[in-house]
Amino acid sequence: MALRNIVKEGDPILRKKCREVTEVNDHIRMILDDMLETMYESEGVGIAAPQVGILRRMFIVDIGDGPIELINPEIVEQSGLQEDEEACLSVPGVAGVVKRPTYVKIKGLNRFGEEVEYEGRDFKAKAFCHEYDHLDGILFIDKATSTRTMDMDLDDDFEK
Ligand code: CO
Repeated sequence: MALRNIVKEGDPILRKKCREVTEVNDHIRMILDDMLETMYESEGVGIAAPQVGILRRMFIVDIGDGPIELINPEIVEQSGLQEDEEACLSVPGVAGVVKRPTYVKIKGLNRFGEEVEYEGRDFKAKAFCHEYDHLDGILFIDKATSTRTMDMDLDDDFEK
């Protein structure tokens, strides 16, 4: 495993639409391993492939109950509305309030190419949606109804 640099806002990579993963192979698993290591090192609760410069549709979420890896994810159901603050490893020092569903059902492939499905409520629903948006070049600041600068010493905010 290796730490990767996190791509920061302003880099056009973050604005591209990612392509599907066509084959879940050792190369993809290696990228996922690097993403995991990079996410944990940064104390994030989620990371998407474009944030490490890989324009493929995959992300990881770990809100404290173990990592969920999703390749070619699809949101198949969503409901409810929450309005809560988010932050992003790619947008350091900024937090913003974003409207998200309170419930999301998402499916995709795991690192072995097997179909998996997850449900997320509240914080996890928000995390799924935030990471999913990265795959379409969307950042939370695009959707935020308000933003504020954040004390970089605090690490209790979303993604950071
Ligand atoms: Co993010």
